Amino acid sequence: MTEPELHYFCKPTVLRAVTHSIDFVTTPDFVADEPACKKLWELASTQFHTRGKFLAVWSGVRFVAVHRDTNRHADGFLLVNAPINWQIDYVVVCEESRGQGIALALVTETANQAFLRGVPYVMLTSKASLRPLYEACGFVPVEAKTPPQPLPQGERGQELSSLCLPLPS
Ligand SMILES: CC(C)(COP(=O)(O)OP(=O)(O)OC[C@H]1O[C@@H](n2cnc3c(N)ncnc32)[C@H](O)[C@@H]1OP(=O)(O)O)[C@@H](O)C(=O)NCCC(=O)NCCS
Repeated sequence: MTEPELHYFCKPTVLRAVTHSIDFVTTPDFVADEPACKKLWELASTQFHTRGKFLAVWSGVRFVAVHRDTNRHADGFLLVNAPINWQIDYVVVCEESRGQGIALALVTETANQAFLRGVPYVMLTSKASLRPLYEACGFVPVEAKTPPQPLPQGERGQELSSLCLPLPS
């Protein structure tokens, strides 16, 4: 069965401590870094099953958060869509670099950048199992509310008819 997804919201109100140095760069600056672009594409196409979605998301990406290993090779990324509020997509860390708090640092640095730039809120969507990661960065899952039930046919008819004006005679 496919794992359920959660949607998260973060209203950044303070700067949080970031345990790894993160480069937070504009898309043109990121695109100029060819080795990093190749690594991102390799991870996007091997760690996710949604290359089509990646290409759709990419057209709106304004910033990329990048972690680099001790040799300055990029080994962790996330993408930021930034029309007004920000949306984080494609948080990914190379397998050999996982378990060191790099994803935590990428997301926390992004929330800090949003705070510094006066961004009202930041959203993201993830598998439910990653809830501890995003909650540790200050994100709160948006509670699913039951959608309003459609009115029974008769009541709907009454409701609509009460909105109708009589035709002029
Ligand atoms: C998910 C992913 C980004 C985590 O990267 P990471 O750098 O290893 O994560 P961190 O070391 O910062 O983890 C911080 C905390 O997040 C949680 N966490 C991290 N990976 C997790 C996982 N796979 N399942 C559940 N919780 C996880 C843990 O609470 C962890 O704290 P701990 O190490 O003290 O237990 C990485 O495993 C990855 O790239 N996976 C494939 C792509 C993916 O699924 N991305 C998420 C898209 S929403």
